Amino acid sequence: MINPLIQKFNFCFVGLALVEIRERHKLLRLFNEVLIDRHVTGAAVARGRQVFETTACVNCHAVGGTNANGRFGPDLSHFMSRDTLAAGAAPNTPENLRLWLRNPGAIKPGSLMPAMQLSDEDVNAVADYLESLR
Ligand code: HEC
Repeated sequence: MINPLIQKFNFCFVGLALVEIRERHKLLRLFNEVLIDRHVTGAAVARGRQVFETTACVNCHAVGGTNANGRFGPDLSHFMSRDTLAAGAAPNTPENLRLWLRNPGAIKPGSLMPAMQLSDEDVNAVADYLESLR
């Protein structure tokens, strides 16, 4: 007969090993999720940059290190260092930024930036891009 103490020990050991495997799985999954998330965000940022650089945005806005050198609107090189949009018209939040890109007049009536008529997808991509400018 196996010593009950050894049996108990084995039982604990296997239990611990299972817990460890489960935790490792969780960690791996988390890691994967972060990687996939990064990848998706990276792709959206690249796409947003492309939209930005191929629309009239560049005629009015500058972004350091890119072909955007418009002077009519504010320089967006360090956009995320700003707490507010349009010189204090609204807090710089992800929602307000997207609203601004759809319709600046909804945030600042009479704003000199026109509504750019982007698709929802492009609005999100451009917003992701702008949010990467620190
Ligand atoms: C005709 C010129 C013009 C075009 C085109 C234009 N903007 Fe603007 N934009 C402005 C002006 C002017 C402001 C400042 C508005 C204000 O303060 O009333 C502004 C403000 C902004 C702001 C807020 C910046 C801040 O510091 O508060 C963002 C973000 C922005 N524009 C993004 C874009 C994007 C993205 C595009 C292209 C999809 C674009 N703009 C196209 C003129 C333009």
